[in-house]
Amino acid sequence: MSRTPFVGGNWKMNTGPESGPALAREVAAGAAEHPGCEVAVFPPFPFLLAVGRALAGSAVKLGAQDCYFEPDGAFTGEVSLGMLKDCGVSVVLTGHSERRHVLGETDALINAKTRAVLAAGLECVLCIGEKLEQREAGQTDAVNERQLRAGLAGVSAEQMARVTIAYEPVWAIGTGKVATTADAQDAHAKCRGVLAAMFGSAVAQATRIQYGGSLKPGNAAELLAQPDIDGGLVGGASLKASDFVPIIAAAAGRV
Ligand code: PGA
Repeated sequence: MSRTPFVGGNWKMNTGPESGPALAREVAAGAAEHPGCEVAVFPPFPFLLAVGRALAGSAVKLGAQDCYFEPDGAFTGEVSLGMLKDCGVSVVLTGHSERRHVLGETDALINAKTRAVLAAGLECVLCIGEKLEQREAGQTDAVNERQLRAGLAGVSAEQMARVTIAYEPVWAIGTGKVATTADAQDAHAKCRGVLAAMFGSAVAQATRIQYGGSLKPGNAAELLAQPDIDGGLVGGASLKASDFVPIIAAAAGRV
């Protein structure tokens, strides 16, 4: 089963009202050269509309870094999926490690958000991954399985067509440390095994699993050529088109 590679640029709490749309225009131009790869950018909420305008006419998807699961009401500071749709968002991140470990999101909240994204008809990138102490204790596969099972509880096999998994070892995010190619491939294959146990092998074979954690032009080609690595979720290197576009190229060129 061939899966279309998918590369996301998670801008986190970076860019501004001018630099965000400018970056989006450069990404759109670069991505157009590599139509074999699906691409999304995830700007901060205040710049969604402007970045969406900058992406008009391009195949690059507009993504949101977070959402709230309730449709409206007294939830100060939160942003609903209806609001995100009104901004042109088509894909939403859930479970990013910074939301889990810096902002304290639980598996239950991440599951509620994931189900709400799918119920709203949008695509979801569910992020999972172990912390350094968990890796050192040999718990990588158990943590990934727990986060997959909890994050995807109540999601149907049919909804899985709109789910991408991002495996991001927490110790590799923003640190310059990268999982070895063999370790990353092994973790991805194990995650696919969990998806097969949950949803059957056809769904598992069709689901994209991105790698994330210090992906750069220099390490992307080797990682993204692995059979179970279907693209990447990129933080730091997504803030410069001259770094991000070569990662898209590497994903598009995977054999
Ligand atoms: P990084 O971030 O590429 O800066 O390590 C990845 C992510 O958090 O998605």
